[in-house]
Amino acid sequence: MKMQDGFLWGGATAANQCEGAWNVDGKGISTADVATVGSHTIPRKYTKGIIEGENYPSHEAIGFYHRYKEDIKLFAQMGFKCFRMSINWTRIFPIGDEAEPNEAGLQFYDDVFDECLKYGMEPVVTVSHYETPYGLVEKYGSWRNRKTVAFYVNYCKTIFTRYKNKVKYWMTFNEINCIALMPFIAAGITIEPGENKNQVTFQAAHHQFVASAKAVALGHEINPDFKIGMMMIYPLIYAETCNPDDALEAMKNMDLHYFFSDVQVRGYYSNKMKKYISKNNITIKMEAEDEEILNKGTVDYIGFSYYMSMVASADEQKKEIAAGNMLGGINNPYLKASDWGWQIDPVGVRISLNNLYDRYHKPLFIVENGLGAVDKVEKDGSINDDYRIDYFRAHIEQLELAVNEDGVELMGYTPWGCIDLISASTGEMKKRYGFIYVDKDNDGNGTLTRSKKKSFYWYKKVIETNGEDLD
Ligand code: BG6
Repeated sequence: MKMQDGFLWGGATAANQCEGAWNVDGKGISTADVATVGSHTIPRKYTKGIIEGENYPSHEAIGFYHRYKEDIKLFAQMGFKCFRMSINWTRIFPIGDEAEPNEAGLQFYDDVFDECLKYGMEPVVTVSHYETPYGLVEKYGSWRNRKTVAFYVNYCKTIFTRYKNKVKYWMTFNEINCIALMPFIAAGITIEPGENKNQVTFQAAHHQFVASAKAVALGHEINPDFKIGMMMIYPLIYAETCNPDDALEAMKNMDLHYFFSDVQVRGYYSNKMKKYISKNNITIKMEAEDEEILNKGTVDYIGFSYYMSMVASADEQKKEIAAGNMLGGINNPYLKASDWGWQIDPVGVRISLNNLYDRYHKPLFIVENGLGAVDKVEKDGSINDDYRIDYFRAHIEQLELAVNEDGVELMGYTPWGCIDLISASTGEMKKRYGFIYVDKDNDGNGTLTRSKKKSFYWYKKVIETNGEDLD
């Protein structure tokens, strides 16, 4: 089986997890820059400003800022048709509320896009990937505050105008449905003791919906050829048993995620969500024009990340969290888990694609998928990551079935962390996803030298054959 001509094979990264150069050429501090290193068991800390002596992995990351030419050349060697990356908002607007952008930041992305285009690689750009300007957090309370909508839209106007002839594919917010799960990472919000978390995060989410919808409409005005998508984490949730109560529980859990895609794809809050909001004593403050803004700013496609599936049970006793499954849920006895406890479920990607396509009938784009694992460098320098190849083979087989047998419209596939980078949840380097190895450890030691893993050659062959040769 293979994919249609023009299928966008590629890889995905995010600025704060790879660029480094956190305070270079006028860049301001972002929320990612105050996140310390953690581990599988020790959560990352988010400090108030930069504290001397703390280890902040984004500050150097993997040095993409200075090595982007070498990295893009390696992607080109694998045959990437596209490269998903994000723009670091604080390179363009260091505090976040400036009227004029920072030219050095704009020039950097011009150079990166030119380098991609030189190899015929389409940039796929996330406008905001887990890095809100820290200045907006300090001065305005970030996405709690409606003012942030205008700052975001001005940022979009700046980059859409500047790159209108270089970038066609955009996504407005990374994993927009993670705001309640990770309020600081996703939206620069800290929930204060005694605060109603639901109230704060739903209001902030509304601001993001309005900002995204305004950006979509504006982007289409700037260049009608733009394809602007939403991006969500897709948490496929199974019922533990055929007990209808378990099925209902699974449905309710999924609803909390569909809430986000419904608004961005359909352009309005569903009746079910309106009920949920009033039942939970949440009041979303809306402006008179918001309904129309949401309606006019629906997205062109749905980008999503898929790493794992989850299991829901109505039994309160069973609601223990599956080890490391960051989205919760109970253990699935039919699945193996990664070293970080993420339950590996290739068939789940086919089900997810079908669920999303049946619900929305919009083109889909898998913009993240992959295995975080510990890699071993052999004495001869080789890295034999067969486990990663197995993971990808199994997932690609399933997405090919979804397209060729189920008729799902899939635009492309960009495995996460195509080059090793900083983990978002733990800040570790040890949790590697790449086809390309980067010499660096959790404490920041290493030369940053790049080397090709076994999976590099495997993925190159997959792209060359348009997904036909998965051996
Ligand atoms: C997604 C994020 O949730 O998962 C990425 O969009 C992140 O930023 C990726 O890196 C993998 O998660 P982690 O925690 O293993 O880095």
